[in-house]
Amino acid sequence: MTEVRSAHTADLDIATLTAARALLDAAFEGGFAEHDWEHALGGVHALIWEGAELIGHASVVQRRLLHDGRALRTGYVEGVGVRAVRRGRGHGAAVMEVLERVVAGAYELGALSATGQAAGLYAARGWKEWRGPTAALTPAGIVRTEEEDGGVYVFPVARPLDLSGELVCDWRDGDVW
Ligand SMILES: CC(C)(COP(=O)(O)OP(=O)(O)OC[C@H]1O[C@@H](n2cnc3c(N)ncnc32)[C@H](O)[C@@H]1OP(=O)(O)O)[C@@H](O)C(=O)NCCC(=O)NCCS
Repeated sequence: MTEVRSAHTADLDIATLTAARALLDAAFEGGFAEHDWEHALGGVHALIWEGAELIGHASVVQRRLLHDGRALRTGYVEGVGVRAVRRGRGHGAAVMEVLERVVAGAYELGALSATGQAAGLYAARGWKEWRGPTAALTPAGIVRTEEEDGGVYVFPVARPLDLSGELVCDWRDGDVW
């Protein structure tokens, strides 16, 4: 029996945050760095519980993405992970459904950086691959992030987007996308 819950970071107790961090450490084969975890905090989390065990997590935090002369209020999805032995049963889709509702209700668009393993899941849910150049607004100015080209997905909400245009993310420590 599974249950999907959502809550702001401020309303999660230490035990739940610790369980989420442990879940993501295990879910990401390449490792889930401290910065990656920090990026997943400060917004709304979707959590899937199987009894007392946390088996799925994702969160959405606010960022600004520059596109077409505007700084778009963006719901940026982080920390999407499902316990390996529970995959392929719709739990990834369930956490995304919660976050897409948040994105549609509170932001001008959604965005995320997809792992190869998850790109199909996002595409099947209506997320669009960003086809244009990506970049970051660093303390030294706008810097291209070629390595991220093709890996960024957006969830349009309020306005049509030119997916072949430039998309610039705000600055942060760790991976910028
Ligand atoms: C990505 C991940 C969260 C998916 O979790 P999951 O619980 O297996 O996903 P679901 O079972 O909800 O899959 C939902 C749908 O997407 C489809 N799907 C999932 N991965 C897919 C893929 N790589 N390609 C195509 N479709 C895919 C499923 O077939 C399913 O479609 P259906 O509902 O029509 O059957 C999980 O594999 C994971 O934790 N991976 C490791 C961490 C990671 O890479 N996270 C993503 C960071 S961006």
